[in-house]
Amino acid sequence: MQKVLTGLQPTGELTIGNYIGSIKQMIELQNDYDSYIFIADLHAITLPQQPEVLKKRIREVLALYIACGIDPEKNTIYVQSENEYIPCISWLLECNTYYGEASRMIQFKEKSKKNANFSVGLLTYPILMAADILYLDTDYVPVGIDQKQHVEIARDIADRFNKTYGETFHLPQPLIRNSGAKIKDLKDPTKKMSKSSENPNSSIRLLDPPEKIRKKIMAATTDSESSIHYDPEKKPGISNLLTICSVFSNQSISDLENQFKGKNYGEFKRYVADVLCEKLSEIQTKYEQLLNSNQLDEICEKGIQKARELAKEKYELMKDKMGLIRK
Ligand code: TYM
Repeated sequence: MQKVLTGLQPTGELTIGNYIGSIKQMIELQNDYDSYIFIADLHAITLPQQPEVLKKRIREVLALYIACGIDPEKNTIYVQSENEYIPCISWLLECNTYYGEASRMIQFKEKSKKNANFSVGLLTYPILMAADILYLDTDYVPVGIDQKQHVEIARDIADRFNKTYGETFHLPQPLIRNSGAKIKDLKDPTKKMSKSSENPNSSIRLLDPPEKIRKKIMAATTDSESSIHYDPEKKPGISNLLTICSVFSNQSISDLENQFKGKNYGEFKRYVADVLCEKLSEIQTKYEQLLNSNQLDEICEKGIQKARELAKEKYELMKDKMGLIRK
């Protein structure tokens, strides 16, 4: 059975962008693939975090995975930092990665520009991500478009390692949606919707209450026309709302265009808000039930045992290939 794997950083409240770009894809694949989803807490600390907040978020994101529909019977679910072999694998990969290729990563360039005192971890971040992906011989990595380059460097590193030391890794591929690969900021629809955005009105969080969802959707930036059709270049705001609505209502974009022919933006926005409120309130009810249950701990215990075993096996193989053996 082919393998799919993804991870999300517990660095803020998850947004509908995270849901659409990665969680929803995993849910759609879980019946047909050997599926792995984890909390990327080691990636979170590449930027400063408050320990108490981080700890709380790890549990929240775990509960959200399951509340969203990630089935614990069909997925191996774990917390990255509990798998001690991942940083070991990452180190061996780091020594087989060029400084030049790591420093060319777009996210590294953007994030390092924001703070002159950035950590070395920000540079090696994609190599840690390569370790996450490669230990498992992952076939597909469902992500948003912003992570495509990181999956590609994982593939390059794996390929180089195979050529240098002999066949060791399977080469992974990113899995990116045609529509919804980059859900846009509600206030500035030329930018990506982000969980770390400073303006709380620019994103819908999975745990936002209905009143907030309605307010944010009604205030989303659109354009001065009045026609509801998909044109990401000329109408980025409306196109973004069409994409979001299409994912959450399971209607195609062209069906939505037909449904709202001749209607105004207000009517369309009210519909988008209704669809979102309905789906997110289902998720929120399940989330509340899960957050303090022992079920989460049991799921992670089971998940980490399996992930650790597989990572240990790959680490031993890599060490062997690289000559890191006493006799
Ligand atoms: P992170 O936590 O930034 O984002 C989690 C996932 O959400 C996707 N995403 C979006 N998709 C569509 N529209 C958006 N506006 C949007 N915003 C975020 C991201 O592309 C991502 O898929 N480095 C990763 C975590 C990670 C990982 C991995 C992922 C660590 N190791 C191994 C896959 C495989 C990250 O920071 O994602």
